[in-house]
Amino acid sequence: MDGKFISFEGPDGAGKTSVMRQITADLQKQLGLDGVLYTREPGGNHIAEQIRDVLFDARNIDMDPRTEALLFAAARRQHLVADIMPALKSGKVILCDRYVDSSIAYQGAGRGLGEDNIWRINQFAIDGLMPELTIYLDIDSELGLKRIAQNRADQVNRLDEEALSFHRKVRSAYQKLARQNPDRIVTIDASQPLTQVISATRLAIHQRFEQLF
Ligand SMILES: Nc1ncnc2c1ncn2[C@@H]1O[C@H](COP(=O)(O)OP(=O)(O)O)[C@@H](O)[C@H]1O
Ligand SMILES: [Mg+2]
Repeated sequence: MDGKFISFEGPDGAGKTSVMRQITADLQKQLGLDGVLYTREPGGNHIAEQIRDVLFDARNIDMDPRTEALLFAAARRQHLVADIMPALKSGKVILCDRYVDSSIAYQGAGRGLGEDNIWRINQFAIDGLMPELTIYLDIDSELGLKRIAQNRADQVNRLDEEALSFHRKVRSAYQKLARQNPDRIVTIDASQPLTQVISATRLAIHQRFEQLF
């Protein structure tokens, strides 16, 4: 497989979408439109999008946490086979918004299912295929939640404690993953101005893949 698989991680509000848009545009200038695949989980193809709909349907508020974790892993599998593997075979650079680390941080730590359990079910799903590089946008939980709240029609900036403690668990799980996988995960301070986050990301990509940027 000739392609390059890069995942982007971090909580909502960290800036993944903003950074990935710019990086995609920059890489497309270098490699052409067909040289880059910008994709996100869960989703990417008709089967994974149907699983996404089940996961995010407001009627499914009573979904069991393990069911949720298995559905994320199922969507990931389909995305991998239908989208990522063909792109890797044709030599593309793949920028993927969230991958296994999200499940470990959110379902494993946030929802308390256990990081090891989530890693195991995901091993079955991905069969060892991990990104060569993961950009982790690290941000203080309060600041991340504030950015999201500001987006929602300027509602009062009141952060509920439950949301905050959930996000803190997610953040420390991400930080632990970064410590355990120093060769794969590059941590970037996402509290910096967006232009600096983008240049730090470009640098991290260039350091891993010399021919890019
Ligand atoms: N470095 C930054 N500094 C200030 N605001 C930012 C920064 N990065 C993103 N934002 C803003 O925060 C919000 C969430 O950004 P987004 O890129 O959608 O993050 P994510 O995809 O990780 O949820 C958006 O309103 C965006 O404009
Ligand atoms: Mg986003």
